[in-house]
Amino acid sequence: MGNFFNYIIAFASAIGGLLFGYEIGLIDQVLGMQNFAITFGIKHYNEAGLLVDTEQAKDIKGNVTFTFLLGCTVGAVIVSIMADILGRKRSILVGGFAFAVGGLLQALTGSIELFYFGRVVSGLGIGVLSMCVPLYISETAPTAVRGRMITVQQLMITIGILLAALVNLAIRNSQEQVNATEKQGSEPEWRIALGMQVVPGVILVFLMFFMPYSPRWLEDRNRHAEAVNALSKIRSADENSAAIQAEYKEIKEGVEFERSIGNATWSELLKPGIINRVLIGVTLQFFQQWTGINVILYYASDLFTAMGFPYETASKSLNIVNSFVNVVGTLPGMYLIERIGRRKLLIFGGLGMSLSHYLVCLFIGLSKTGNASLNLGALIFVYVFILCFSSTWGPVVWVYQSEIFPLRIRAKGTGIATFSNWSMNAVIAKVTPIIIDAISFKFYLIFGSTCLVMSLFCVSFVPETMGKSLEEMDELFGKVNVHEVESQKKN
Ligand code: BGC
Repeated sequence: MGNFFNYIIAFASAIGGLLFGYEIGLIDQVLGMQNFAITFGIKHYNEAGLLVDTEQAKDIKGNVTFTFLLGCTVGAVIVSIMADILGRKRSILVGGFAFAVGGLLQALTGSIELFYFGRVVSGLGIGVLSMCVPLYISETAPTAVRGRMITVQQLMITIGILLAALVNLAIRNSQEQVNATEKQGSEPEWRIALGMQVVPGVILVFLMFFMPYSPRWLEDRNRHAEAVNALSKIRSADENSAAIQAEYKEIKEGVEFERSIGNATWSELLKPGIINRVLIGVTLQFFQQWTGINVILYYASDLFTAMGFPYETASKSLNIVNSFVNVVGTLPGMYLIERIGRRKLLIFGGLGMSLSHYLVCLFIGLSKTGNASLNLGALIFVYVFILCFSSTWGPVVWVYQSEIFPLRIRAKGTGIATFSNWSMNAVIAKVTPIIIDAISFKFYLIFGSTCLVMSLFCVSFVPETMGKSLEEMDELFGKVNVHEVESQKKN
């Protein structure tokens, strides 16, 4: 078990995950708000006095998603350099600040160009946070509970998504009352919904001021005394205690060892013993998006409606249950990650998700005539899918990428893997509507198959990292290991 302060560090920094979740959960709802749609040219009144989509509606909606994901992708690249130069803690501060500024811009502006700009700035913040928060937690957590502590970020992501769904529900309910008298909806509703993201952003920045620097980063910067001091604070133990001295020694030897074998250049990512980790990190993040999770989350209301549920139920209660299952499902993952390990979760999670997708497709296919039990079956297996994702691929991929790289290139390696996550997120956001238009509910088969492939990939290529200290990863993955280097030195 980690100590209490360690959990505070994990929860404080994981507010970055809350922002991530709130943002992805919210924007779709905001796009549907009438006053927002009118202000930014998505809807207008036609000659018959009806509120309809404008010609540019699709483009504007696409740009709103794209500008944010663009920011995230670029943020992932920036942080792979920034996290080494400024350190993990200050990078999280920068990410939180960018997110808050971007959110404020979106909430205050009336111009679509500035709105896009605000999206890019928020995205930059999320790109930075999504990579740096798990990295920071991994470098401050004790080995025995490192995986569990990193999963706190995923828990916060899912809470953020649920929060966004609840805020949206409250706003929609009040909007319905407003709309009874005022047709266009009201301006404050979308400005408040967007402005609310600033609050956790500011809380994150405030709390991070009080959090320690990563001892591993300090040691790498030759700030030895500060490294011991940070470690003793994090573990709530005396600097001179045997436990702190032993852990510090391991960190120090790890840093010295790494210096003896290579420079922290980008080309090092291509070396044997490292390239395999890059490929695993990038592939896991690629696959995480190809589980189809964001399609199910973004389009939940439409997907449930297509299963035959009334839009009102689909977009309100069924959608909330979806987000709720996502939160609850993270809990068994947090427990199991230090019990059965990362590898088994990834393998069985992939199989569970694959089966769920196939069954959803089967039930919808059989229920063409609108059979209520089959529709219910499809709905249940969407929830089973979410449960499988949130307890396995959701948390484990972020944990895995944060622990496999050696310190000297950890920021670069995790940055590239995070880039893979966000760029795939963008690709899927772009292609899914086209695929759904073309093959309708059969799109579940595509994700069912990718989930199967990802399980097989893990069986063949993903070693277990549970219980290994960050310093021991070289032995697990490496062609490069301590003994080899020692013998090379002797020759
Ligand atoms: C993924 C996100 C996803 C979220 C859902 C995260 O691990 O990276 O793309 O929206 O989980 O809970």
